[in-house]
Amino acid sequence: MDTQKNTKNQALSQDSLRSLAQMATNILEGNWRDGFTVPSSNLYPFQWLWDSGFIALGWAHIDMTKARTELETLLGSQWANGFLPHIVFHDDTAEKQYFPGADFQGATTSPDAPAHVRTSGITQPPILGFVLEELYKRETDKEAHHNFYKTLIQKTYHFHQYLYTYRNVNQDGLVYIRHNWESGTDNSAAWDSIWAGYTPPDYDVQRKDTQHVNQAQRPTKKDYNYYLHLIELSKTCEYDEAKMLDILPFIVLDPLFNALLIAGNESLIRLANLVELPDIARQATDWNNQTRTALNQKLYDESLGLYGYYDVKNSRFISIPTSSGLCPLFAETAVPADRVKILKNTLLSSDFAGHNGGRLCPSLAYSHLAFDDRRYWRGPVWININWLLYKGCKKHGLTDVANRIKEDSVALVAQNGFYEYFSPLPTDEQAGFGGQDFSWSAALILDMLADD
Ligand code: DGY
Repeated sequence: MDTQKNTKNQALSQDSLRSLAQMATNILEGNWRDGFTVPSSNLYPFQWLWDSGFIALGWAHIDMTKARTELETLLGSQWANGFLPHIVFHDDTAEKQYFPGADFQGATTSPDAPAHVRTSGITQPPILGFVLEELYKRETDKEAHHNFYKTLIQKTYHFHQYLYTYRNVNQDGLVYIRHNWESGTDNSAAWDSIWAGYTPPDYDVQRKDTQHVNQAQRPTKKDYNYYLHLIELSKTCEYDEAKMLDILPFIVLDPLFNALLIAGNESLIRLANLVELPDIARQATDWNNQTRTALNQKLYDESLGLYGYYDVKNSRFISIPTSSGLCPLFAETAVPADRVKILKNTLLSSDFAGHNGGRLCPSLAYSHLAFDDRRYWRGPVWININWLLYKGCKKHGLTDVANRIKEDSVALVAQNGFYEYFSPLPTDEQAGFGGQDFSWSAALILDMLADD
């Protein structure tokens, strides 16, 4: 590990960068199981949806067969209605290793759930379109893998179709999430006003996450009461979408989820044209026109200079400065040019860039009262969000900002290790938190290092 401290960026030598890439490769190899990669060996011991997508991007630099297998295994758990679960429990040890395991999630109550493998009944952000496109670009013999891509494009399209069929609550192209875990940003402060509106039961359960990670770096017990209650309510609906929409207190239009859907559609359009699936290209174009318009009309937050959230159940806009609100930059076509400039200024403002050498990009603005530099999604920097912002800035020609995000990301792992998340504050102390040897941190650093 490099002994440079966290207070300023110092260019790493080629040797240090090479050894960092080697460490990342070792982590992915260590976390590889039979056909998929665990996000972190003790904390998340199964296959997670958006983790797997990001992880496949890392495998693409090491072993294309594993990259393809990762996605094939993941999509093997697709439900009959196109839904993709956020966790695939590949063996029977779920209850022992993780909470809430397959029994608590109770997804087999849905007639759409697969019979051969147990899964959760909630999803995660739709990242597979652009992951497939990245993999496709890297194939040296595209013809040999034509059928693989054709099949996976169709499955990814089926997932998007599910979202536009069941989650398109206002028929305007913005799709909702029905559990905070579906946002990928589990304990974001964005949900606080929703939680304040109701009281869940107090669950007396044995959490497993806090056996591996300090409780102060994880969601609170109170947070878990809300999370578990949403699952219990979903089970009473047998995961029927119409019934859940009716009774769940958490129905949210999330800017990250919808931005990634737009980016996913953009990739599906290009890929579908390449592999000759014209109906998919047409439909995804149509969806994107709607989602893009609605995102800008309904989720843009003029006062904060980024995108916000909409709480459907309480008919309330949630105005809050999170890094999710900057992620529409990742899609090529989501943000109009004048707003690209505003988002850039917001990203570089003291709210996100700090004052004295802080690292981009905190998950919650420093100025927010709930900011906590080490509690999961309430302040820490996450490498996947940095990767999205890095790629997004490049797409919009913001090369200097992109380079800064990459430098900060590389410096954080070089100084602390491949943790799950990092304090954005300039500090000489250990600033890596959550799971160690975290797969997507390794995969996406590999991808950024390869991108010069
Ligand atoms: C967790 O367990 O913390 C995951 O993020 C939710 O699946």
